[in-house]
Amino acid sequence: MDKLVIEGGVRLKGEVVVSGSKNAVLPILAATLLTDDACIIKSVPNLRDTNTMVKILRSLGKNVEFDKNIVSISSTKNLGFVADYKLVSSMRASFCVLGPLVGKLKKAKVSLPGGCVIGIRPVDLHLKGLRALGADISIESGYVVAKASKLKGANIYLGGVYGSSVLATGNVMMAAALAQDKTVIESSACEPEVVDLADFLIKMGAKIKGHGTPVIEIEGVKHLHGATHTIIPDRIEAATLMVAALITDGDITIKNAFPKYLGAVIDKLEEAGASLVRIDNSVSVRCVKKLKAVNITTLPYPGFPTDMQAQIMSLMSITPGISIITEKIYPDRFMHVAELNRMGAYIQREGPHAIVNGVKELSGAPVMASDLRASACLVLAGLGARGKTTISRIYHLERGYENLEGKLESLGAKIWREKE
Ligand code: UD1
Repeated sequence: MDKLVIEGGVRLKGEVVVSGSKNAVLPILAATLLTDDACIIKSVPNLRDTNTMVKILRSLGKNVEFDKNIVSISSTKNLGFVADYKLVSSMRASFCVLGPLVGKLKKAKVSLPGGCVIGIRPVDLHLKGLRALGADISIESGYVVAKASKLKGANIYLGGVYGSSVLATGNVMMAAALAQDKTVIESSACEPEVVDLADFLIKMGAKIKGHGTPVIEIEGVKHLHGATHTIIPDRIEAATLMVAALITDGDITIKNAFPKYLGAVIDKLEEAGASLVRIDNSVSVRCVKKLKAVNITTLPYPGFPTDMQAQIMSLMSITPGISIITEKIYPDRFMHVAELNRMGAYIQREGPHAIVNGVKELSGAPVMASDLRASACLVLAGLGARGKTTISRIYHLERGYENLEGKLESLGAKIWREKE
């Protein structure tokens, strides 16, 4: 197993290009199960998660090639309907094959994904939505078993205790695309990744309106055809790079950053005192004065993304003042706090809040990544710290950031891999 080593304290400078969005591409790859025709998906990041989804599609009988950020999918035999525990348990997003399988085959057997370190992560909203469309769903030996004689459009309220659900909205939208009549999803997720999925489904012949708003309308069609689609840029990678510029007091231009997806993050960074200059789809980021602490609350889109909570905490940990960071989507998503404190941060956790007292500096230390975004948080902390940081269990990082260390190196960071 590899670990990442970072010699901190180097100001990052230069230009960097953001890869395609992990969270957009996973459901879009799953959506190709809705057709027997060939599909081509471009700007696919080469990640552990995208490779897992490719394996799942292959296990279901699709012929899939993944080369130079392009995935080509075609059908050679009948589609399978069983998504195995081994694959689904390694990545929660695999669960988004359920909606397309139910839509296309009217049957599916998909392993329940289980929880993970950021929380329990139930799937009740996914099941509620598919049941409303007429699927008969039972849980058998850790699998969701779904059957339907036909799917029929329905009015579905999909809000949960923590607000809307990104992948439940995707699953229901994909199944409803091939249902009879009209489906209305209320309290649907508005994330750009849901919009990208809807745009792809529309290219396949689906009739969808309202995506990007809390009410999505889907008029079912009998058949979906193949399509070619380019994935939107990864807003979380772009935002992570913005923090990398600020935590190193650097000056970087992030291309393919699509600032229109990052209103809440940009607003908070500007409130903290950062300079962000937007030109078309690029953003240039630097500090023009001493940053100050800001309070942050994570919320569904267009609110501040939970997937940036850990990274912004790194920055606040060395920003003078007190920052209160409130996690409203995953109240237990604070595994990174203890690791940041090992590097000299002064952060106390109080339920869903982290109270961050900015310290003068962090000092490099051996730390352990617990999940994807916590790994990014530790990389950022290492870049901003004095001395050497070693991060173990970096396979988490490889799940969701394409060549992050190469990109940081190209900006001047001293970062390399070593064998554990
Ligand atoms: C997606 C993202 C993930 C991000 C999250 C929230 C992908 C592949 N992953 O995950 O990176 O952190 O959105 O922005 O797109 N919930 C329920 N019942 C359900 C489903 C969800 O209670 O059936 C809860 C969750 O536990 C959580 C909240 O709803 O508290 C939002 O989760 P959700 O939007 O579903 O997250 P994912 O779609 O799994």
